[in-house]
Amino acid sequence: FKTLDDLDATGKKVLLRADLNVPVRNAEITDATRILRLLPTIQELAQKGAKVIVVSHFDRPKGKPVPEMSLGPIADALGDALGRPVTFVDDCTGPKAQQAVDAMQDGDVVVLENTRFYPGEEQNDPALAKEFAALADYYVNDAFSAAHRAHASTEGVARLLPSFAGRLMETELNALNVALENPARPVGAIVGGAKISTKLDLIGNLLEKVDMLIIGGAMANTFLAAQGVNVGRSLQEAEMHDTARDIMAKAKEKNCEIILPVDVVTATDFRADVPTRTVPVNAIPADAMALDVGPETVRLINEKLTMLKTLVWNGPLGAFEITPFDAATNAVAREVGRLTDAGALKSIAGGGDTVSALRHAGVEKHISYISSAGGAFLEWLEGKTLPGIMALEAVFERAMPI
Ligand code: 3PG
Repeated sequence: FKTLDDLDATGKKVLLRADLNVPVRNAEITDATRILRLLPTIQELAQKGAKVIVVSHFDRPKGKPVPEMSLGPIADALGDALGRPVTFVDDCTGPKAQQAVDAMQDGDVVVLENTRFYPGEEQNDPALAKEFAALADYYVNDAFSAAHRAHASTEGVARLLPSFAGRLMETELNALNVALENPARPVGAIVGGAKISTKLDLIGNLLEKVDMLIIGGAMANTFLAAQGVNVGRSLQEAEMHDTARDIMAKAKEKNCEIILPVDVVTATDFRADVPTRTVPVNAIPADAMALDVGPETVRLINEKLTMLKTLVWNGPLGAFEITPFDAATNAVAREVGRLTDAGALKSIAGGGDTVSALRHAGVEKHISYISSAGGAFLEWLEGKTLPGIMALEAVFERAMPI
């Protein structure tokens, strides 16, 4: 599809779909990554003399205006980050939006109100898409992280205007391409997190594409239990044992090496400063839970990492929110960072917890690419076609180095 390189934006009205759905606590933005990553696209368009009309959802207001979910404060934060004023309009359609757009000068930036204040957004109502389209000459989608939603502002409108991928969208897709579509091999994946049941499609798709699958987190307990290991009181999904065995069999068939923990850090309670015992997986005490993978497993994983050229990481290896159960995730993250810095590994990470875990480990800057997406990154790892990207037309072919 087309990118900003193909867009002659001077004097044109550009509807820019951003993802300003940033985490907010007590009216404070706790992570401005999505705002910061959007800046290159806005700056480029504004410098080219476009009138930049930013639209986004924020939170889940369910089709009606919810004052606490206004994009107003986030528009202010965007203005601060850009170092220039942006105009906020408290509607995303109708006469208010139209008047604000009519008053724009070349290079101006306007942010419209939360698109999810209208039910037509999530219903992908063609009438709402048409209203969005009527505001602009061109549509630029820079919201990879919302591309798994077929909504009026992500999908419907892209079919009504000449559409382009923004710079963040381009960067995200390039990184994903480097990770799985066209990776330097061997390629491996670390998949962690609590439940196999939520990551079945993801594991199924990765088995087809990677040479090595490293499994951590509570979902590793399910794999171990499925092989007859007694995992004590560890979190696991008893009803998934057959599935886990099927996955192991399929991996063998596909020549995908599966790495499971060989030792674990256990405790009888999940809280900070609880006494812990590190044991081989076949010696988990009956009254204890595995809350992190152990040092032998870290050694094994780190050794395996040196064999890889590309790594995709989704999900922590242990219950990293509480020390000391962050130890394995931190240690492996540091090794991934070291190998990446040394030029030996391309590392691509994404999906909710993973980003927090890597940030917690202090290695954020040492990973080749961290996606700004949560659900969209997961759906992409599942091999699904993302409607927001489909609507931008055709397949993304270019593989640029990251
Ligand atoms: C996200 O944060 O993953 C995106 O902004 C999508 O939000 P949603 O899950 O509310 O659709």
